Amino acid sequence: MADLGTRYLGLDLRSPLVASASPLTGTLEGLRRLEAAGAAAVVLPSLFEEQLTLEADQVGRLLEGGAGSLSAALALDDYNAGPFGYLALVEQARATLQIPVIASLNGVAPGAWVEHASLLEEAGADAVELNSYYVSSRPGLAGSEVEERYLELVRSVRQTVGIPLAVKLSPYFSSVANLTRQLVQAGADGLVLFNRFYQPDLDLETLEITPQLVLSTSEELRLPLRWIAILHKQVPASLAASTGVHTAADVVKVLLAGADVAMMTSALLRHGPEHLSSVEAGLRDWLEQRGMQTVGHLRGLRSQRSIRDPAAWERANYITMLASYPDQVHTEAR
Ligand SMILES: Cc1cc2nc3c(=O)[nH]c(=O)nc-3n(C[C@H](O)[C@H](O)[C@H](O)COP(=O)(O)O)c2cc1C
Repeated sequence: MADLGTRYLGLDLRSPLVASASPLTGTLEGLRRLEAAGAAAVVLPSLFEEQLTLEADQVGRLLEGGAGSLSAALALDDYNAGPFGYLALVEQARATLQIPVIASLNGVAPGAWVEHASLLEEAGADAVELNSYYVSSRPGLAGSEVEERYLELVRSVRQTVGIPLAVKLSPYFSSVANLTRQLVQAGADGLVLFNRFYQPDLDLETLEITPQLVLSTSEELRLPLRWIAILHKQVPASLAASTGVHTAADVVKVLLAGADVAMMTSALLRHGPEHLSSVEAGLRDWLEQRGMQTVGHLRGLRSQRSIRDPAAWERANYITMLASYPDQVHTEAR
């Protein structure tokens, strides 16, 4: 039987299938179901800078109080329920699950709130994923300044924790390759490519701006697929594919591009955690039909560095696609 074992952020995983942050990973029951269905690691939902900024004073006092004060913190009133409930979830998940538990922080600027990362480590998180979701709408703020904020944030979380640190990025940077290299220099051990921005819509009846959650499809895989192929062996970091991983075929593609793990949220929300077991079976079949014994055999086989025509992952692909447009449409319509 093919060995699906892989390494991500220095952690040994039984397969490359990871449940990314979502409400499914926010309860012990959900986490148990994910593990039973075959998740090799879980990323908890994010704790937000906004929640923690409010609590910075209490966190400071907790840190002075030492580890024993964690359980006392759980008795704090409703005001603190978010952050401290989260620490309890990390502790319970770590105590209950066999697989690595990755805690997630969402923020945009360094500050006292970052100290909370050390509490996550203390509570037993195996790694931290930093999810920076920032919509820069100020014309006066240059892209380089936005990037510097990300880097500062990564440096400050790096200084706070000893466990591995992954950075989950949006795809909206003018030089993804350069930024990822700098993020690794700033202390990131892994890159999660990419987060998916939820774009608001307009309701034409009420003229209200409506937040709308639309789950992804496999069509969206191509953006992470390209960037993983480009970054594989170019940045010394673990690579996780996020956005558009729904099927075993999607997992095979991101591994061929060079991903260490494939993360799933929409597919698991749509079909339930048990979907993981059919994806795992499909991945195993794919490998076995080709006589491959391990996922290591296919990792990066089609990354930009491994192929004869590296431009295929770049602009040449665009030109070829435009030139063959009528043929492609004809083929797809049949
Ligand atoms: C309902 C919902 C909640 C999510 N919550 C978080 C979160 O707390 N932190 C985070 O980093 N990503 C969060 N995400 C993003 C997912 O982890 C994932 O990166 C994104 O959905 C793209 O992957 P997919 O195509 O497999 O859905 C959430 C997504 C959904 C649909």
